[in-house]
Amino acid sequence: MQPNIIEQALAYVKAKFENEYSGHDYFHTLRVFKTATAIAKEEGANLKIVQLASLLHDVDDVKLSPETNENLLNARRFLESHSIDTDTISTICRIIRDVSFAGCDSVVPETLEGQCVQDADRLDAIGAIGIARAFAYGGNHNRLMHHPDEKPRLNMTKDEYRSHKSTTINHFYEKLLLLPALMNTSAAHKIAAHREAFMQNYLAEFMNEWDGLL
Ligand code: ADP
Ligand code: NI
Repeated sequence: MQPNIIEQALAYVKAKFENEYSGHDYFHTLRVFKTATAIAKEEGANLKIVQLASLLHDVDDVKLSPETNENLLNARRFLESHSIDTDTISTICRIIRDVSFAGCDSVVPETLEGQCVQDADRLDAIGAIGIARAFAYGGNHNRLMHHPDEKPRLNMTKDEYRSHKSTTINHFYEKLLLLPALMNTSAAHKIAAHREAFMQNYLAEFMNEWDGLL
């Protein structure tokens, strides 16, 4: 493995996400990288694998890059061109596949490294930043913030979750509030508990204002 590959991966994702504003910008990847690194240190996971997988976890996202998603071509090309061995490439690609939230079809990654990256990606979807990302996503996809007659849909499969166009408030019940219990590592559970309480307070305030309760 080349010594400066992490710096090169950082530069690669910075350029890749330069014009991305839908909630998957460069800073999302940077936060996932930093959080995954901290969790990996606490849990004793392989740092290089965690760092490369977290930096590359969104470069073939189906919403951003549908043409490369199937074979994770962007991630593979980056790793191959930096002389990473084939076993390590398979491990990293497996982690990238397993990371994303897919309703009832979400998976627990087999490796500790995968669990660290998944936790870091999910931590970025909750708390103050998670709330901001959800509303940014809703605006980007022309969704209402809230509709009192639309109830959240629970227990969706991967396909139902992907095609369902929910209000942003419903997204809290369909994904964000489910994430704390799904954390893999104890390091992430601790952070998630704090962020969950913050989201519950936020929702209570939102509903009070919506209902005109001053
Ligand atoms: P990731 O791949 O980072 O796990 P997604 O691609 O599912 O997350 O979504 C990116 C961001 O947009 C996340 O913060 C997520 O919670 C938010 N998001 C996804 N779907 C919705 C939705 N229907 N309404 C509001 N926010 C959403
Ligand atoms: Ni992500």
